[in-house]
Amino acid sequence: MNLQDMTPQSYDRYLSPLFAAEDEALRAAREEMQREQLPGISVSASEGKLLHVLALISGASRILEIGTLGGYSTIWLARALPPEGRLISLEIDPHHAEVARRNIQRAGLTQKVEVRTGPALEALAKLAVEDRALFDLIFIDADKDGYVEYLGKAVPLLRDGGLILGDNTLPDAVLNPKADSGTKRYNAAVADHPDLVSILVPVLRSNGIDGLLISLKKKR
Ligand code: SAH
Ligand code: DHB
Ligand code: MG
Repeated sequence: MNLQDMTPQSYDRYLSPLFAAEDEALRAAREEMQREQLPGISVSASEGKLLHVLALISGASRILEIGTLGGYSTIWLARALPPEGRLISLEIDPHHAEVARRNIQRAGLTQKVEVRTGPALEALAKLAVEDRALFDLIFIDADKDGYVEYLGKAVPLLRDGGLILGDNTLPDAVLNPKADSGTKRYNAAVADHPDLVSILVPVLRSNGIDGLLISLKKKR
């Protein structure tokens, strides 16, 4: 046994079928995204399952997602909701939003999920003035240059003890250590944040390793 001989691909081939097998709705969602020529940048099945388990652990009944694409991560997250739970997902591209709504409907989640079309910053400003309960979990996965601003808007919308999850936060930092990037600025802002306790966890993609930055909002 030699850890150096292991590749991310070999890990993924083992654990994804065992713990993150896709059912018909998830498979159909991926096929539909391909047919509609959406970019192949959804979370992997195993990261989807990680999102699902984190949502269950935190007992989330209100989830906010920033960056819907075709709704693949949306389905993993929304399936962790209790019967009265709700997820709002923000998407700037009307075509992505339309594909996502179809995929969410096929998964039987229309009653729980609302996809809001438009720039996330505008949607977040609206959410801040809506008379609504705080979110239990916020998944940040839209344009990487927006991450730091999304963090600033997300923290006040999150309950104490809630989770903020930041996708795609590892590769830039490791592959381009000198270059500036939105996710690196996000990682630094999270690491410095007085209200958050955080860890960046490597996650498997079929083509390599990415990262999910997990942050818990402390009680002040
Ligand atoms: N969460 C998805 C992947 C999201 S990909 C999944 O894992 O299944 C990133 C998405 O963010 C794209 O669909 C893109 O159109 C959207 N996006 C980019 N900039 C945005 C913005 N300013 N506001 C809202 N969505 C944005
Ligand atoms: C990429 C991957 C993502 O999960 C995402 O949200 C945006 C971009 C990428 O690999 O380029
Ligand atoms: Mg992503």
